[in-house]
Amino acid sequence: MRELDIPMPGRTRPRRLRRTQAIRDLVAETHIVPSQFIVPRFVLPADKADEPIPSLPGLSQLGVENLLSVVEDELKLGIRAVLLFGHPEAGAKKTPDGQLAWDPNGAVQRATERLKQTFGDDLIVMTDVCLCAYTDHGHCGLIDKGRVLNDPSLEPLVRTALSHADAGADVVAPSDMMDGRIAAIRDGLDENGFSDVILMAYAVKYASGYYGPFRDAADSAPAEGDRQSYQMDARNALEALREVELDELEGADMLMVKPALAYLDVIRTVRGMTSLPLSAYNVSGEYAAVKAAAAKGWLNEAQVVRENLHAIRRAGADQIITYHAADAIRGGWL
Ligand code: PBG
Ligand code: ZN
Repeated sequence: MRELDIPMPGRTRPRRLRRTQAIRDLVAETHIVPSQFIVPRFVLPADKADEPIPSLPGLSQLGVENLLSVVEDELKLGIRAVLLFGHPEAGAKKTPDGQLAWDPNGAVQRATERLKQTFGDDLIVMTDVCLCAYTDHGHCGLIDKGRVLNDPSLEPLVRTALSHADAGADVVAPSDMMDGRIAAIRDGLDENGFSDVILMAYAVKYASGYYGPFRDAADSAPAEGDRQSYQMDARNALEALREVELDELEGADMLMVKPALAYLDVIRTVRGMTSLPLSAYNVSGEYAAVKAAAAKGWLNEAQVVRENLHAIRRAGADQIITYHAADAIRGGWL
């Protein structure tokens, strides 16, 4: 019988660096600070409203005044960036072109204005630019006989981005995945005096089952078909590089990979190929799954959230867009 050459533990002992909390903290490779968090918020076109979202435990759709007080509390925790998602006025009719998306009195526009009035540059207001919550068919672009059209969708997206910039948004973040929208929106912003508005591209956005709870909240599920003709195929990673190259060329200031946890390899690869800031979106289904298992006592929420968020940072994300942010800071989970 061949003798196995397994060395006894000797000079090199990795456990030395794990002995105490202070030592572990000293050698920790990743850190998360509150200024790296971006918190998604669902805004209703009302002053006062607080409607809990069943599929996102702990989160509500908020009226503008309610949003102000939640944001104020979170600013005290050091969370300085929000990403706003809107909802058309109750009773307002959604249209094929989604024109409610660029209504100057829409929920996102009103909320943006009030937030910037109240908190000024202490707060970074980011807005999601898309049509799906405002089109009667629920797709992120215009459709013709069930096909999602690319180029005709650009103008309404530009209008939407401009209406957000007009309201004072610091960052506009298009999530529609139409080709060429970063260039179109950049040009639109620059031509209208918004050359300082930051463009964060949902550069790498996969067609994902993890968006389920969000679509309930935003009432944005497609009436027919799915988003596979414009969002990316989960089997592809090289394709992400092409999306990133294009968005960079088109003038994106920041990039995003979404979802985060099932795509950590993509985050890592993208981090290696661009010098732009890279955000990862820890999406609604990733949050809901943790919350549901924790509610049943099957997972320890604090531990799992800590692991997930550090995994996203370890993969290479600079910022994390997550619904867990306030809980994680308040609970000292990081
Ligand atoms: C809309 C949009 C979606 C999300 C952000 N913007 C849903 C979708 O593309 O269907 C998902 C966010 C989440 O699940 O947390 N274009
Ligand atoms: Zn959309």
